[in-house]
Amino acid sequence: MNRIGGADELGALGHLMSADSPSRKVFIKTFGCQMNAYDSTKMGALLAKDGFEPTDDPALADLILVNTCSVREKPEHKLHSFLGEVKHLRAGGARIGIAGCMAQHAGEQLFKKYRRDVDLVFGPDQVPKVRSLVARAARERVLDNRFLDQADYAFVADLAPVPANRSSVGAFVTIQKGCDNKCTFCIVPATRGVELSRPADQIVDEVRAVVQRGAREITLIGQNVNSYGLKVTAEPTFAELLYRVAAVPGVERIRYTTSHPRDMGPDVVQAYRDLPQLTSHLHLPVQSGSDRVLRRMKRFYTRDSYLRLVDALRSARPDLSLTTDIIVAFPGETDADFDATMSLLDAVPFEGAFSFKYSPRPGTPALRLTDPPIDARVASERLTRFQARQRVLQLDSNRALEGQTHDVLVEGPSKWDDHVVCGRTGTFKMVNFPGPAELVGQTLPVTITRGFVNSLRGELASR
Ligand code: SAH
Ligand code: SF4
Ligand code: F3S
Repeated sequence: MNRIGGADELGALGHLMSADSPSRKVFIKTFGCQMNAYDSTKMGALLAKDGFEPTDDPALADLILVNTCSVREKPEHKLHSFLGEVKHLRAGGARIGIAGCMAQHAGEQLFKKYRRDVDLVFGPDQVPKVRSLVARAARERVLDNRFLDQADYAFVADLAPVPANRSSVGAFVTIQKGCDNKCTFCIVPATRGVELSRPADQIVDEVRAVVQRGAREITLIGQNVNSYGLKVTAEPTFAELLYRVAAVPGVERIRYTTSHPRDMGPDVVQAYRDLPQLTSHLHLPVQSGSDRVLRRMKRFYTRDSYLRLVDALRSARPDLSLTTDIIVAFPGETDADFDATMSLLDAVPFEGAFSFKYSPRPGTPALRLTDPPIDARVASERLTRFQARQRVLQLDSNRALEGQTHDVLVEGPSKWDDHVVCGRTGTFKMVNFPGPAELVGQTLPVTITRGFVNSLRGELASR
């Protein structure tokens, strides 16, 4: 039986709900990446079918779900402190469930450790079954973190809106699950399983549906989007998918994340020439500027091939802005290796960089490297140096935009001031400018008046 992308729900319990069922509330806490954000909104949409309304106060919830991340030690700690805050609510009748990547790779331990505090533990493959799992957890404790066979995996085809930003102007649309790469530091292949591409027709249907509900910007998400479709003869390639999504009426901007530099082919570079809908921003994680470290990370590209790719992209799209991810203090990273990462900042001006200290993850190949761990103080110094330099470069680059006018897609009212709205340029820069909430969803020319490290201030340009 092939149910890839099939049923949107594997265990409805709608029949248990009568028209006069009391309304129930669900609180969902999300840690981790865009995949988890997407899964959380899908779980919310599925549970709504059983009368669960969202609440942002766990004290009011009948069901508390925490969607966990394992990518580094820090996000794992967040689960334990979150449970510390909410576990007393179980005494008042709330059910508590742990979902996501930690549930996948450490489900048994969590199930045992929190035997008095948690009713339900389930992994990412079980997200489509959340309704039946929650129903079962009302009667007994439930642990379900088996990976499904590829043929049995179902992408949630529920078409509820999936906001990618604070309004529904942006929407995430998942295009694949899992990852077939084996970057030696990374736990994701162990938590999300093998790579599986979602059928293109289903992706395009979801894009149409979210556009009908007001989305203007589509973000295609997966752990390695560039390898989309390559394992399935019937599916388009990632580049072909971009053209199909761009052809959907009403799609004003397309973004995607995450790209692996090795898998980014000339066909995707060409798409930057052909598709005005593709935004002029690309998140292209480089991880390190040292070939020796890249080799030991098993990233399968070199500093030089990364720079050549950036050149090709820039000649296809001269205003392309790049952001990246960096790991410092990978096992065996020498001062010279780290200097190579620092010097990369001069070779490629990144408009933003997420940078992390290497965090050893259970079961990952890097644990087998025999280098002595980098001294914690050295690791912290490297991270601080990197971040300080990157901040200076970002500030310079944002200040250089002062006086320029850019088209901004307005996402919502500012968090801080009702008379200010915020939105993004095509290069993914956040701009705040005075204006009423009615502007949300419009793309407007805004003149930049001030550049900060992480955002811009502007004012509406007269047209
Ligand atoms: N699929 C994406 C990224 C997934 S994880 C990609 O291929 O780039 C997001 C980022 O977390 C990674 O890019 C990496 O910089 C960081 N990361 C992953 N594992 C890590 C670890 N063990 N220690 C520190 N940072 C890590
Ligand atoms: Fe992890 Fe590498 Fe896969 Fe990204 S491409 S999810 S870093 S294994
Ligand atoms: Fe974290 Fe899982 Fe995403 S480990 S980064 S939530 S795929």
